[in-house]
Amino acid sequence: MTQRSVILGTGSYLPEKILTNHDLTKLVETTEEWIFTRTGINQRHIAAKGELTSHLAIKAAENAIAAANIDKATIDLVIVATTTPDIPFPSVATKVQAGLGLKQGAALDVQAVCAGFVYAMATADSMLKNGLATTALVIGADTLSRIVDWSDRGTCILFGDGAGAVILQSQQSDRGILSSHLSSDGTTGDLLYAAPTIHMQGKEVFKNAVLHMTGSSREALARAKLQATDINWVIPHQANQRILEATVDKMEVSKDRLISTVANHGNTSAASIPLALDVAARDKRLKPGQNLLITAIGGGLAWGSCVIRW
Ligand code: COA
Repeated sequence: MTQRSVILGTGSYLPEKILTNHDLTKLVETTEEWIFTRTGINQRHIAAKGELTSHLAIKAAENAIAAANIDKATIDLVIVATTTPDIPFPSVATKVQAGLGLKQGAALDVQAVCAGFVYAMATADSMLKNGLATTALVIGADTLSRIVDWSDRGTCILFGDGAGAVILQSQQSDRGILSSHLSSDGTTGDLLYAAPTIHMQGKEVFKNAVLHMTGSSREALARAKLQATDINWVIPHQANQRILEATVDKMEVSKDRLISTVANHGNTSAASIPLALDVAARDKRLKPGQNLLITAIGGGLAWGSCVIRW
């Protein structure tokens, strides 16, 4: 057994309002069929007026704490991956701390856009391994609907809002985070940026997504001394069904090992992986001892992967 950061529970939260492909046909020149065939997305959730990233994050956190069955007073680290904080400061993480009634430990935000949750998991894992904390609440939460240009049909069809959370605890265990890999290349920043709304070169982002999620997954697997065939489930950043399938194809992993929630959630940025993880944990697809691969890419470009034993 090794000192590892073990996932004790997961939780998520989606805003009530659903925006369907049909709804989008009333906003921009598009069709339901175009959106579904190019992206695999059917619907996405949109935060209500006044419903902020921290509100979604707190609800996801409460669900994760309940699933982990821990005393929340044991949480001594809160990391929130987000690109859409309520305000520039204080951080969403400190708002989550306050919302949960926590006064101990450290809280910080991580900003790596759609790769944010993987960056937050790797950061939490390093801090737990270094003894800076023992129990971490790691959240991915975003309200990208607030920075979408709702007149740009090339981007507004993709994004949605939501939050997902996990409780990570440092334990002597065979389970937990086995390895991580992080990378970024700032020279590709103009492919996907927000100033102040989202701008994207869709085809280039698509190619880079498949290339880097595959490369990073291979690096993380090598660090865990595992092969692609040892992976039971791949949970990529839920960007577009075609990107997800191209990524597992390139890794020579069967599509029935792919966990996809993109049809129902759209691209929820840093929230997408923990949302999908929570769905698969709750429907019992994930079984103790199975190997999971999470991999993501986002603006920066920044990308990364973690191998986790469930
Ligand atoms: N409805 C109808 N037509 C649309 C449209 C829409 N919503 N959006 C774009 N089009 C049109 C374009 O104007 C273009 O028309 P033209 O040929 O007359 O110029 C045509 O459809 C093809 O557009 P293109 O951008 O080449 O389509 P695509 O096959 O690359 O699909 C994306 C577009 C956005 C779905 C795709 O590029 C993609 O998913 N990229 C990755 C995006 C992503 O995941 N980003 C986040 C990563 S974290």
